[in-house]
Amino acid sequence: MYSFKLKCNGQLHKMMDLKVVVVVVALMAQVQLSVQLRFNHPLHGVVDRINQKAKGSYIGLVMAYSTEEAALQATGHFVPSLDIPWVDLAGRRFNIGKIKGVDVIYVKSGEEMLNAGITVQILVDAFDIKGIVHYGIAGSANASLSIGDVGVLNDVAFTGSWNWKEFKAEEGTLPELKFGAFNVPENCQNLLANIEFTSQQLFSVGKPVEDVFWQPIEPKWLSIASQLQNLTLQQCLKTYCLPKAPQIVYGLRGSTDNIFLDNEAYRDFLFNQFNISIVDEESVAIVATSRTNGVPSIVFRGVSDSASGENKLSEPSLSSLAAANAVTAALEFIGLLGQKSMVDDH
Ligand SMILES: *[C@@H]1O[C@H](CO)[C@@H](O)[C@H](O)[C@H]1NC(C)=O
Ligand SMILES: *[C@@H]1O[C@H](CO)[C@@H](O)[C@H](O)[C@H]1NC(C)=O
Ligand SMILES: *[C@@H]1O[C@H](CO)[C@@H](O)[C@H](O)[C@H]1NC(C)=O
Repeated sequence: MYSFKLKCNGQLHKMMDLKVVVVVVALMAQVQLSVQLRFNHPLHGVVDRINQKAKGSYIGLVMAYSTEEAALQATGHFVPSLDIPWVDLAGRRFNIGKIKGVDVIYVKSGEEMLNAGITVQILVDAFDIKGIVHYGIAGSANASLSIGDVGVLNDVAFTGSWNWKEFKAEEGTLPELKFGAFNVPENCQNLLANIEFTSQQLFSVGKPVEDVFWQPIEPKWLSIASQLQNLTLQQCLKTYCLPKAPQIVYGLRGSTDNIFLDNEAYRDFLFNQFNISIVDEESVAIVATSRTNGVPSIVFRGVSDSASGENKLSEPSLSSLAAANAVTAALEFIGLLGQKSMVDDH
């Protein structure tokens, strides 16, 4: 109908042409503006100097929120650069320094996927980054994991990409969640019907766009991380001690969504359907953004709760203990990267 009007009404047609021209001009202006921002940005020289300072390139260390950042500061391992200790870009503070002798830029991204993705993109665009180490706290969907354990993810998926189907639609080929299966006291139909889990588009340099569900972690980095298996993790917080010593657990699958998951039925569904052990709100965005840019990444997530609405162990809140264990693993890993690059350089 709209195109009919366009064809039959010369005046409207002309107006549309004009709009197209205006849009094109506006787009060109935007492109120029962004080019100018890049080279004439007030912090451009600062960023250049930071990049020249590192002997090789930096490791980007990313966490999402204040408890996780506080856990890093409490270790005392981050030594800020005397020259330029930090630079603020897009409202985030990029802290420049060293951890165990390795050049590191650490940044608190903010919570959830968009913040995490933006932050990693800024890191790789602005700085000379050789890889991204991500740590944080997480919920567990795997009953064999204990609070305080640190999961090293092998794969992570975005579990919020759904094809929400019509009532009584036929079953598809991809994994589905049937709302009716969760009715109480008994299963029956439900107007929310079924959701089919779908993949995400992954853009990467020099490759066509791929549809992916699982985002794998760089195998070389996983093999370095396997050396952390005997790391001693924190078991007590003030006067409270966990019943057993926390461990590093390898080979886990994680899932990310912009959802704080605290529901036993859905958490069990994720474990039973996908073998997902760790649930969080950022990891997949960090891994996908790193892969898009051809940069390796790794995820260490400390279990702070069971994601199931049961708060058996939350006296006191164990988030800071989980964050402390995750940061311990991340920092040891950075130390191993430093040793490895010394070996590689000789
Ligand atoms: C659940 O966690 C345990 C470690 O406590 C691990 O051995 C097991 O492989 C995990 N299950 C899955 C399906 O990943
Ligand atoms: C961890 O400890 C076990 C048992 O003492 C030992 O066999 C293994 O080699 C150690 N692993 C690493 C990476 O140090
Ligand atoms: C989950 O893990 C089990 C045991 O390792 C395996 O048999 C099963 O195929 C896995 N399921 C999925 C959906 O990957």
